[in-house]
Amino acid sequence: MEGKTIQLLVHNIGTLVTLQGTAGPRTGLDMSEVGIVEHGAVAISDGEIVAVGREEEVRDQVKGLEIETELDAGGRLVTPGLVDPHTHLVHGGSREHELALKSKGVSYLEILAAGGGILSTVRATRQATEDELYRKAKDSLDKMLLFGATTVEAKSGYGLTVEDELKQLRVTKRLNETHPVDLVSTFMGAHAVPVEYRDRPDDYVDLVIEEMLPAVRAQGLAEFCDVFCEHGVFTIAQSRRILQVAKAMGFGIKIHADEIEPMGGAELAGELGCISAEHLLAASDEGLRAMQRAGTVAVCLPATSFNLRASHARARRMIELGVPVALSTDYNPGSSPTESLQLVMTLACLNLHMTPEEVITAMTINAACAIGRADRIGSLEVGKQADLVIFNATNLAYLPYHFGINHVDAVVKSGKIVVHEGQLVKERFS
Ligand code: NIG
Ligand code: FE
Repeated sequence: MEGKTIQLLVHNIGTLVTLQGTAGPRTGLDMSEVGIVEHGAVAISDGEIVAVGREEEVRDQVKGLEIETELDAGGRLVTPGLVDPHTHLVHGGSREHELALKSKGVSYLEILAAGGGILSTVRATRQATEDELYRKAKDSLDKMLLFGATTVEAKSGYGLTVEDELKQLRVTKRLNETHPVDLVSTFMGAHAVPVEYRDRPDDYVDLVIEEMLPAVRAQGLAEFCDVFCEHGVFTIAQSRRILQVAKAMGFGIKIHADEIEPMGGAELAGELGCISAEHLLAASDEGLRAMQRAGTVAVCLPATSFNLRASHARARRMIELGVPVALSTDYNPGSSPTESLQLVMTLACLNLHMTPEEVITAMTINAACAIGRADRIGSLEVGKQADLVIFNATNLAYLPYHFGINHVDAVVKSGKIVVHEGQLVKERFS
């Protein structure tokens, strides 16, 4: 600590949720242990946390050091920066016309089978220029940050040609370089079978394996590979092929599993050692046990099940079986057009029957584990990146309780105040 300058001291924190403890992922009862400190403070130097805990202890530790900026949290709630581990951030167009179809009872897979759904976003994404995709995604990323997200995973999967997939991934890379939010990139060429391959889906799987994956790897454009394993999309055998090759090439692997039909996707996630499996509404106990054995994080997406008017993931069962649960927006133009992790908090409490403590664990340390970042983010601990949120609330339960509004007052990203009084601090953006 000696000789350091304190870049930022966040003080007068009424309730400081640290998530200190196991590096995670947290399971079972540990999901309720969120490390609350009352009258807390966080001291930051060079973008990292150098002291965190009760204010008098933190002040003691930084005594004599120069403090550049002090931020008064006004006795309110502070949490680690929220982590959104599953989004389809970069895409063209929007699909508001599907709302009327949904409200008439037309299902998600029926819309897709009729050439709409994901395939309509594929048309819009192919038509869009890289700059258009960048501007649209940046607007959404700004919103995510305003709602408290400081790290966001972003998937491709609306290009479905080598060049259009690379185009989406380049946008993610550029956003990561220019926006305060950190992005984690996932290649998802196996998001749908494009119309030109409708009658020969295995040839498309060959294209993903033989051309897309090597190109993505050669250009260093993604860290993870994801597959939509679902009836009418990719089978278990096709998903296994793609993910095995991706894993052998050094990608971390993820799978959209058992979202609509129970297909054995969760079992496959466990078998292959996926870092995370997503959706899981129809996952069997056997599948969940396989995930538990492999340490696969279950990324639950309650905004999607709400919006599809589907059943809900069995989060309580997952927690009971010791599967680590994370939560995410699944932000995308079809099944979950929302950037708000705070809406997801409410839906997770009411529809997934999770407690506010489990919810914050699922959106911080467990979400960080789902994207391989738990060593840097997801908790407020000495040596970690200084990402935190000040909420206009005094306790955790208030966030999901008072729903449909934005409670964020300020966001600190790598020690810099990037949201202040609910507004973006524009000079922090390049
Ligand atoms: O995670 N389920 C597949 N993919 C996305 C939806 C994409 C879309 O409808 O455009 C999801 O829900
Ligand atoms: Fe998704």
